[in-house]
Amino acid sequence: MKAIALKEGIYWVGGIDWNLRNFHGYLTQRGSTYNAYLIVDKKIALIDTVKYYLIDEMLERITSVIDPSAIDIIISNHVEMDHSGAIPHMRQIAPNAEIITSPNGAKGLPLHFGQLPLRAISNGETISLGARSLTFILTPMVHWPDNMFAYCPEEKILFSNDAFGQHIATSERFEEEYSLDIIMEEAKKYYANIVLPYGNQVQKALHAAENLSIDIIAPSHGIIWRTHVNDIIGKYAQWATNTTEKKALIVYDTMWKSTEMIAHAIYRAFEKKGYYPQLLSLQHNHISDIMTELLTAEYICVGSPTLNNNMLPTVSAFLTYLKGLAPKGRKALAFGSFGWGGQSIALVEEALSSCGFEMLESIKVQYVPTKSALDEITQKVMNRI
Ligand code: FEO
Repeated sequence: MKAIALKEGIYWVGGIDWNLRNFHGYLTQRGSTYNAYLIVDKKIALIDTVKYYLIDEMLERITSVIDPSAIDIIISNHVEMDHSGAIPHMRQIAPNAEIITSPNGAKGLPLHFGQLPLRAISNGETISLGARSLTFILTPMVHWPDNMFAYCPEEKILFSNDAFGQHIATSERFEEEYSLDIIMEEAKKYYANIVLPYGNQVQKALHAAENLSIDIIAPSHGIIWRTHVNDIIGKYAQWATNTTEKKALIVYDTMWKSTEMIAHAIYRAFEKKGYYPQLLSLQHNHISDIMTELLTAEYICVGSPTLNNNMLPTVSAFLTYLKGLAPKGRKALAFGSFGWGGQSIALVEEALSSCGFEMLESIKVQYVPTKSALDEITQKVMNRI
C-alpha cells in the first residue's frame, strides 16, 4: 500500500475502512477512510493518524516515502480516536516527534492515552517546516471542542479534519476520479449526522477560512477536494444556515397499517400544496438517511400507533436521534392511530415540541380510519400548511 501525492512532498497516508457500516449509529453503507497526511520538508510532519486497527496500513504507506522514525512533528487536529488512535504507537516509532494540538486537544488527548509530550498552539499560530509552513485555525465544536484546521499557505492546502468529509471507502482520492453526485450525497449525509448541531460554529469556521486562498481541501474522511472546493464551501454555508426547501418528510412506523394510512393522507395534503413529500417508514429507512433528507426539509411529520401506552420503539429511537442533532427552524406534526389509550401521539408531539419546532395540531384516529376520515385529514393538513 502506497502513499498518494497531493503535491510534491505532500502525501495522503491514511487507512481505508472498507467494512465500516456503523459509525456510532450512523449507517456508513459505503465504509470510510481515515485520512492522515505527510508533509516531507526540512521537518517531516504527520497530520492526524488513523483508527487503531489501521495502523499497519498507515505505516506501510508512510514507509513507501520515508522512514517513519524520521517524523519530527505529529499534528492532532482532533482528539476523536478515528484520527488520534495511532498517536501513541507513532510516538513509539518516532520517540522524538513533537505532538502539536489545540489547547482543548491538550486537555483531551491525555484523557484518552495518558501523558504525552504535547505542545498546545494558539489560534492563528504558525510553525515552519522548512520551505512550507502550517497555520492553525481553531474550530471549536466543528464538531468537538478540540477541532482545528491546519493551513499550508505555500501549497494552498487546508487540512480541515472532519469538516467537508464524507464516509466513503475508496482507493480513488480526488473528486474528479469518483462520482461527484455520490461525494456530494455523502458530504450532505456527513453534515446532517455529525455537524448539524453546530451551524453557528460552522459559520465562524467558514468566516475564519474565507480569506485563505485554497486550492485543495484535505478532509479527514473520504475524498480530497480540488476541483469543487468552492462548491463544498458553498454547501456548508447553505447547510449551516438551516435553509430549507418545499419538502416534507412523513416518518412513521405502523402496526396494522392505520398509521400508514394516515401517513398517506398527509402525503396527499403536501402534494396538493405543491410540496415534495417523502414517505419514510422506519421499517425500511435508516434514521441516519432520514436525517440527510431532513437537512433541507421544511416539515417533519412523525407518526406512531400506541403500543403498551407508548410509541413504537423505532419511533422513539428516531426521535432521540433527531433531538440530539437539533435541527432548527422546522415545522412539525405528530400523528398516529390507537386502540384505547392513544398516548403515543401526545408523546411524539411532546418530543417534537421539545426540539423547538413550530407545531401543527396533532392527528389521531381510533383503530382503522375510514375513507372519509382520511379525506378529512388531508383537507385539515392542507388548511394548516
Ligand atoms: Fe472523524 Fe470527529 O472524528
